[in-house]
Amino acid sequence: VKTLDDLPSPYLTGEFDHLPAAAWVREITLETNRGCPYGCTFCDWGSSTLSRLRMFPLDRVVAEMDWAGRRGLRAWVLGDANTGIMSRDVEVIEAMVEVRHRYGVPRNLGFNVAKNTTKHLTAIVDRLTEASIVVHLSLALQSTDEVTLEAVRRTNISTEHYTALAASFRRRALPLQADLMLGLPGQTLDSFTGDLQFLTDHEIPARIWITQLLPNSPMNHPDYRSEYAVVADEHGVVQSTSTFTAEDRHQMMRLRHAYTVFERFGLLRQVSRFVQWDHGVEMTERDPNRYPLLNWVLRYFDYYQTRPFGWRSFYDEVRRFLVDELGIPLSSALDDVLQLQAFLMPAPGRQLPATIGLHHDYVAYVKDNTASLWSSGHSEPIKQPLADYPSATVTVLSDPMGYCNRVEDRSVDPRNETMTDAFWMAGHFELDWPLVAPYPGVNEGMGYRGHLGRTPAGVVEEPEAPDRRDMQEIRLRLGRTASAPPSDDT
Ligand SMILES: C[S@@+](CC[C@H](N)C(=O)[O-])C[C@H]1O[C@@H](n2cnc3c(N)ncnc32)[C@H](O)[C@@H]1O
Ligand code: SF4
Repeated sequence: VKTLDDLPSPYLTGEFDHLPAAAWVREITLETNRGCPYGCTFCDWGSSTLSRLRMFPLDRVVAEMDWAGRRGLRAWVLGDANTGIMSRDVEVIEAMVEVRHRYGVPRNLGFNVAKNTTKHLTAIVDRLTEASIVVHLSLALQSTDEVTLEAVRRTNISTEHYTALAASFRRRALPLQADLMLGLPGQTLDSFTGDLQFLTDHEIPARIWITQLLPNSPMNHPDYRSEYAVVADEHGVVQSTSTFTAEDRHQMMRLRHAYTVFERFGLLRQVSRFVQWDHGVEMTERDPNRYPLLNWVLRYFDYYQTRPFGWRSFYDEVRRFLVDELGIPLSSALDDVLQLQAFLMPAPGRQLPATIGLHHDYVAYVKDNTASLWSSGHSEPIKQPLADYPSATVTVLSDPMGYCNRVEDRSVDPRNETMTDAFWMAGHFELDWPLVAPYPGVNEGMGYRGHLGRTPAGVVEEPEAPDRRDMQEIRLRLGRTASAPPSDDT
């Protein structure tokens, strides 16, 4: 293939014209370019890594977007490896925004973010969110550990740059999450724990992928496998390397489960902040095996996302665990955190909005301890104990995702390590309240409002967004493509 335009577009050649819009039950994928200039060893981007980026002509991309727009297709994905790697990506997004204004779609857009340039990213995400397009993206890290990154031949943006970018996203109330990989050469149990702690400290939700040996990836080359003693099972799932044993991996998998349940679904998110800031204990440190309800969620929550015998009994047991195992003293502050934590969980029959009275202002306490994440981006808790805060109320506003009515959510196949279940990637339980986490989908368009206006007083204003390019040219292109006959299923 000399140029990508030699490949006919299945959308524009009428291949799918006979399909009604309702047949597009999943996302429509659009490609604007192919190839990736990087060479991460775990990756096989269609055997196109370490390759020159080749672009589909912009006119064609715009025409495909118009095709999808006229059909009213709501969920779109960009199949490019590195959206934001070049300025043209901003133009593509501006054309997409025009489509949104014209046809009311797309409503959702997923894309892969360029890993070590962020120049165009905030412009892209700003434009999408302004047009009420819900953005699904992840600021991929895979690891923050230098040894691991060297082993997989990957360079990320610096941690400094990463946390500054996260702060910029936060100030704009944009969604934020990170990708980590479990099972990379160079990785250890300690470095994996460190990655989780880093993301937790920086309030960036993680998606944790399980490393697989992809047939044509550099990691699957015999020389590389022997250099790092890579052992995989019959499905290509990496079980051990020269830096972690099978037992270490087992521990990492348990941590992944605990992280997903306690932090991502949030069953202990508030409790763990309090325990860490006021008592210096990181929750990853202890094994709660002796506690049946904690044990139950650690073993089975991936199958059944339900209340383990009621939230009250669950948090009573958490209290016993904290007091007996971690030596946390009984106090009005501990009472508050446990009561609030239970109050934040979805349960059938809840009437919202609902307000709870606390001895201490928990929301102010968290805002103070995380204020630096909105300015420098570094985690610098001020560590003023919760007990020092005056009484206050907290209101849970609503349940935009309807979690209270889903009596029990079941995952389809959560233990399948080759096809990662949505439970690990996209699961959460958040009701709308002032400290709601910035998951993709938690935004005004979806009905979440609690987090708006969270930027702490005194944080330097975001610089003005760069001037919008003249949209005339893009409108002209859309005008041209709109001359094709509209489908009757729009
Ligand atoms: C489609 S890839 C995104 C690639 C993007 N260009 C980047 O560098 O972040 C999405 C995620 O899949 C995960 N992934 C990539 N290769 C993998 C592999 N061999 N096994 C398991 N997960 C993998 C990574 O966490 C990656 O962030
Ligand atoms: S992981 Fe991303 S950046 Fe790395 S080679 Fe694959 S597509 Fe390129």
